[in-house]
Amino acid sequence: MDVEIRHCASAEEVRDAIAPIGYYFGRSAPHQDQAERLTRVLPAQRVYAAWEGGRAVGGLGAFPFKLTIPGGRVPAAGVTVAGVLPTHRRRGVLRAMMRALLDACYDQREPVAYLWATEDTIYGRFGFGLASFTAEMDLARERSAFHAPFAASGRVQLVSPGATEELLAPIYERVAVATPGMFARSSTWWQARTLADPEWRRGTNGDLQCAVLENEGRPSAYALYRVNSAFERGLQTGSVAVIEAMGDSPEATRAIWRYLFDIDWMARVKARLLPLDHPLLLLLAEPRRLGFSFRDGLWVRLLDIETAMSARSYQGQGSVVIEVIDEFCPWNAGCWRVGSDGVKRTDQAPGLRCDISALGSVYLGGFTWTQLARALRVNELLSGAIAHADALFQVRGAPWCPEIF
Ligand SMILES: CC(C)(COP(=O)(O)OP(=O)(O)OC[C@H]1O[C@@H](n2cnc3c(N)ncnc32)[C@H](O)[C@@H]1OP(=O)(O)O)[C@@H](O)C(=O)NCCC(=O)NCCS
Repeated sequence: MDVEIRHCASAEEVRDAIAPIGYYFGRSAPHQDQAERLTRVLPAQRVYAAWEGGRAVGGLGAFPFKLTIPGGRVPAAGVTVAGVLPTHRRRGVLRAMMRALLDACYDQREPVAYLWATEDTIYGRFGFGLASFTAEMDLARERSAFHAPFAASGRVQLVSPGATEELLAPIYERVAVATPGMFARSSTWWQARTLADPEWRRGTNGDLQCAVLENEGRPSAYALYRVNSAFERGLQTGSVAVIEAMGDSPEATRAIWRYLFDIDWMARVKARLLPLDHPLLLLLAEPRRLGFSFRDGLWVRLLDIETAMSARSYQGQGSVVIEVIDEFCPWNAGCWRVGSDGVKRTDQAPGLRCDISALGSVYLGGFTWTQLARALRVNELLSGAIAHADALFQVRGAPWCPEIF
């Protein structure tokens, strides 16, 4: 390979490094405002590029996140902007950048890397395992009745998105800290990403709207959305496109969705990036009408098994010994005893044998060991080891990440 792999040294170099992924979105050069917003949350040292004659032909970066996992939070590399120009594809450029990036993350004591994959064939070879699902819905507003009527409490207000960080951030944080898959948002992230509404982000949609539910003066739920107004022969065909809606209690979540379903003039309410176990499935009288569909969501890669698995909570007593195969990060390979009394290397006989990607799949609680076994992704070497591992790794809900990073 006649290209040099190194991280960026300046915001200008980051702009070059994201050009390859921008190419696939149809852009000849990154939008100035987009690049500027990105560099506010993605330090140059965390963006690797493949340089050829002073030009970036590939790029790959990682946000420095704090990721919620069952029982806590861990520093995690949120891998992003992966792209290699079509003139340089299939020559090992992505592989070389991934090598450099994951080695650097490991050296910086980030025990986990994770990402959204545009194509599900790409990342398994680097040890990423499918770890969550993401769902979407498209509901005709007249079919949005709940299974039981409820007396709305609290007050919904429309607030200018630019001025809402202090209202929204505490609600988000209460949900994020309790939901595996979500990451802590900095104030810069709120301003540069979540609440930003530049023209280039809107497409054909309306302005970013923000509704906040307050109960006795306390903000408890919010919705970020866009109104897409449309009529055909005088009949409304428009929709509400929900970007993010959440509440810090079941009552608050129910109330903010009722608000969204009751906006006049709209024919439909659409939402993406929902968790697989979204409460609307049981709130609605006609859940089938949601058109709920799902696909792969987060992909998780453990970079440091001992630190990553020790940070996670386990249910009940005892431990299971797992033999891990890890070709891309061989320092993880070997037998690990995993349980509530710690995670350590061991020379005990393993009960389970699997590839590192399988550990990524169970890490957030999105899959059970039984599901892995059914797909022949784990070998049960000692009878009962799968059932015991499932008891240890048990979680209460599906992982959820409400945004693509
Ligand atoms: C995906 C992409 C970054 C791969 O870059 P690349 O430099 O061609 O990848 P490499 O040559 O390093 O390939 C590494 C391995 O992945 C495989 N691979 C790479 N891209 C693949 C794809 N899209 N589908 C299937 N396999 C793929 C290669 O065959 C190779 O396999 P091997 O290790 O068994 O030989 C590049 O094709 C691209 O920019 N695609 C469009 C944008 C995109 O999808 N980005 C990902 C965003 S999440």
